[in-house]
Amino acid sequence: MTSAESTAIFTRSWSLYDLITEHNYMFHNEIYAEVARLLRLRDDAERYRLLDLGCGNARYLAPCLRQSPPALYEGVDLSEAALIEARGYLADLPDCRVTLTHGDLLTAVQSTGKTWDVIFTGFAVHHLTTADKVHFFEAVGRCLSEQGKLILVDVVREENQSRADYLQDYLKCMRDTWVKVPPDQLEEACTHVHDHDYPEHFSTLQAMATAAGLKASRIVNRYGQHHILLFARSSLPEL
Ligand SMILES: C[S@@+](CC[C@H](N)C(=O)[O-])C[C@H]1O[C@@H](n2cnc3c(N)ncnc32)[C@H](O)[C@@H]1O
Repeated sequence: MTSAESTAIFTRSWSLYDLITEHNYMFHNEIYAEVARLLRLRDDAERYRLLDLGCGNARYLAPCLRQSPPALYEGVDLSEAALIEARGYLADLPDCRVTLTHGDLLTAVQSTGKTWDVIFTGFAVHHLTTADKVHFFEAVGRCLSEQGKLILVDVVREENQSRADYLQDYLKCMRDTWVKVPPDQLEEACTHVHDHDYPEHFSTLQAMATAAGLKASRIVNRYGQHHILLFARSSLPEL
């Protein structure tokens, strides 16, 4: 499986994902309210640097950034269609240098020459293979600043749940509850999840992070399988 294959659904068109998120089927409203809260806890607003891996059109992160503007925002995505929209959603960030990069998120985090105070990634890491998730955490461990945080929003399997069982549950939930998505588009979304989603257990992500020097980790909150995870080198604030 190549990165291009796993993101084809986002490259062709962004409208199906917009439809899914507009009906809040993946809990974007609740999740991004928490992301905004996490960013507001920082005491370096307007000075911090944020790297957004798999930024998509940044529609849901942009309002969080307006509340707590970084000095530098870099979004990376393989979908040019999404990046064109991201330019619009991020247009009015005050005093923030915005860079949008068309490329692979793993390559981007492995090759960045900068140090980042926040590395954010929303619903993208589950597309990586297990080996590449190890490489992802290693790269984050290298380029996160000393007090930096990795905010990882993603689908996560229950401990001891197999991928097959996870998919059975998630696809059933999609077919039962995503009722506002037209049937042909729902099947396209189900095929994408079936073929390209490789969520891990939290304990697996935690072990990868620890091995990469990110010894502090926490599940901030979860909405079904959709999790907000926080990782740092040594300690995490009270939330
Ligand atoms: C489900 S969307 C999430 C968008 C946004 N971050 C959010 O939380 O709503 C996943 C995004 O990750 C991108 N993506 C997935 N794998 C990628 C990779 N290896 N490199 C760059 N972008 C990737 C897709 O193109 C898509 O825009």
